[in-house]
Amino acid sequence: TMRVELNKLAHAIQDMKQRKAFENEMDNFFALFTRYLSEKSKGTKLNWDKVNSPSPEQIIPYANLPVCENPQHLNKLAVLKLNGGLGTTMGCIGPKSAIEVRDGMTFLDLSVRQIEYLNSRYDVNVPFILMNSFNTDDDTMRIVQKYGGHKIDILAFNQSRYPRINKESLLPMPRSPSGDISQWYPPGHGDLFESMLNSGILDRLIAEGKEYIFVSNVDNLGAVVDLNILQHMVDSDAEFIMEVTDKTKADIKGGTLIDYEGTVRLLEVAQVPSEHMEDFKSINKFKIFNTNNLWINLKAIKRVTEEKELNMEVIVNNKTLESGEKVIQLETAVGAAIKHFKNAHGVNVPRSRFLPVKSTSDLFLVTSDLYSLNHGELMMNPKRLFQTVPLVKLGDEFKKVSNFLARFQSPPHILELDHLTVTGDVTFGAGVQLKGTVIIVATYGARIDIPPNSVLENKVVSGNLRI
Ligand code: UTP
Repeated sequence: TMRVELNKLAHAIQDMKQRKAFENEMDNFFALFTRYLSEKSKGTKLNWDKVNSPSPEQIIPYANLPVCENPQHLNKLAVLKLNGGLGTTMGCIGPKSAIEVRDGMTFLDLSVRQIEYLNSRYDVNVPFILMNSFNTDDDTMRIVQKYGGHKIDILAFNQSRYPRINKESLLPMPRSPSGDISQWYPPGHGDLFESMLNSGILDRLIAEGKEYIFVSNVDNLGAVVDLNILQHMVDSDAEFIMEVTDKTKADIKGGTLIDYEGTVRLLEVAQVPSEHMEDFKSINKFKIFNTNNLWINLKAIKRVTEEKELNMEVIVNNKTLESGEKVIQLETAVGAAIKHFKNAHGVNVPRSRFLPVKSTSDLFLVTSDLYSLNHGELMMNPKRLFQTVPLVKLGDEFKKVSNFLARFQSPPHILELDHLTVTGDVTFGAGVQLKGTVIIVATYGARIDIPPNSVLENKVVSGNLRI
């Protein structure tokens, strides 16, 4: 059985200290596996009749928070970026955070700049923490190494490494504790709590007098420290605050906060019975979604992890490996922990705090003149008439970062752009201006080169315009 196989793996480790750490990790994995088996046999435990829209006290509008300019709580704060993920969807090998987003700076560089600036502006010492995975640790440390002499504490720890499970046999794939890394996986960002405890980082922060941690996805360039929310966290005595933002039609995928028997919970698309999917996607019943910007009380993390209270919904990730073997990965999402914390609630923040880079279409926006960089923070150009982001869809030819970069001589000017769709083999000369709705379609076998300094306004370009 699974337990026997895990013990075998542990016994292959000679060094007793290493074996202990491994056993501890496998115990946590086994607990997750057991929950998976029991959920599988019992079926979905969510009773849709009890799923209610959150009450007004459960989601506070950001505009209702008192404005705070007092940095008094900053010395009790640590900032953490979830950095276990790879950049594979944008065609990059290595950590996503190593992708250059703007002015030669990576996600990591931008985050470091932000915290450095915060520390010097308020004369405080907010540590910058990275939760890496075995996939991202080496490259990440190489990038942040250059900040060694800077006035910023950069701490890093690795999240857990769990064995992939053969879908048929339900046995772990690895035959040895140090086998091929394709047999292991990082179990999602819900692993944060156990990894903070196991790595010793949690105790260290608490010992240094830190009380709160601000957690966000490393690719969310809008996730900057906000004094109003920090003050609100202190005032409301909340152990957990989730920043949510208004859904638009494009945001059907994100998890939402619900009221379930009087407590706030995160509802993810995977938990929704198919007959209620339309309900879930509608922007009427569930108006907001999770940005994954989270403010959490450190002592509360210690309490719920040490007492083994955490019982986050298991996310089953099915994969087919290159060998053709079908495996499953059991994962959890950090926001799902909200139900375990006291006075937990959502704060409905402006969209500008959610600026993720999931695709090169997002990269197109953040590298353009729509934004400017200010101490690592992206600010929307005040010259844009409405402070909304254009809808951009770049086709498959732009999917990889390298292809994307090769197709623009320089980033187009898009201050007046509303909607851009590009498909096929298209390139852009330097200094192109795009306004209104622009659609460029190069049909199969054709290629369109937009000449330098062109101005395209409310235009459809199609066919073969080889210059
Ligand atoms: P995801 O890959 O989960 O992106 O990474 P997503 O699908 O847009 O986001 P969610 O899951 O719906 O919120 C989100 C962040 O979590 C980190 C990634 O590095 C990224 O910053 N992550 C993901 C980890 O740190 N560990 C993991 O095991 C998975």
